[in-house]
Amino acid sequence: MEFVTYEQEGYVGIVTINRPKALNALNSQVLEEIKEAFEAVDLNETRALVLTGAGEKSFVAGADIGEMSTLTKAEGEAFGKKGNDIFRMIETFPIPVIAAVNGFALGGGCEISMSCDIRICSDNAVFGQPEVGLGITPGFGGTQRLARIVGVGMAKQMIYSAINIKAEEALRIGLVNAVYTQEELLPAAKKLAAKIASNAPIAVRNCKKAINDGLEADMDQAIVIEEKLFGDCFETEDQKAGMGNFLEKDKEKKLKVVPFQNR
Ligand code: CAA
Repeated sequence: MEFVTYEQEGYVGIVTINRPKALNALNSQVLEEIKEAFEAVDLNETRALVLTGAGEKSFVAGADIGEMSTLTKAEGEAFGKKGNDIFRMIETFPIPVIAAVNGFALGGGCEISMSCDIRICSDNAVFGQPEVGLGITPGFGGTQRLARIVGVGMAKQMIYSAINIKAEEALRIGLVNAVYTQEELLPAAKKLAAKIASNAPIAVRNCKKAINDGLEADMDQAIVIEEKLFGDCFETEDQKAGMGNFLEKDKEKKLKVVPFQNR
């Protein structure tokens, strides 16, 4: 792949969008390569992912404006669908994805970070949805996910005004969970991913599914979703080992887990 790299560190995978000359802007090829990188993740060996951008300046500076500039209405809609399908794949990916936002996260950059489970950023990060200044709406989920994450009022303010916000403001409004120096960001993302990966993998996957699916349902349906995923954990090796360790007072014993597809 030309614009996306993948590294494996233990049970953690690191996906890096690598098109620094265009501040990692998302053209069709970059989008396709992100999809390929996720599809190639070995879910037997990987329990959490980190998504970041190459270079010191930008996470992702949005969808590629040059590529979008000549699109027809139908082509614009198709480009939106392409991004939306891939970002939805990230959002519903079986294992947690942490966005390590290392600079500009504008337009499609803010949107791809919002399709991740958790966002942390560096102190030079800038978030925003500048689309109305370009004569378009956000098109890769921004009108939907921003309101769900930071609330309707703040999302409307950011989207209607196209005013970018800095890392500290992103932290204040709950768009990111933590801010680090540029040097500390990736190690912090990997450390959090490794902590997630140290927990029982079926349980972590089921938590992700319960939270995501539950948020799309009313409370009566949502608690049933939880009950089923809670029940699904029982009789697994992880549950037996996890509870067995507690009952044996062997808190040091690591969870004994078997490859996911063999459970
Ligand atoms: N698309 C294509 N190229 C981009 C780009 C983008 N979104 N963002 C940056 N680049 C390119 C620039 O054209 C430039 O290329 P050249 O060196 O070949 O001229 C290179 O990256 C470096 O950018 P700048 O010289 O502009 O760097 P800067 O430090 O002066 O400014 C910036 C940085 C403020 C992020 C500025 O590049 C910028 O405003 N970029 C566009 C941000 C934006 O509007 N994003 C939203 C796109 S729309 C969208 O994403 C729709 C959607 O929801 C799907």
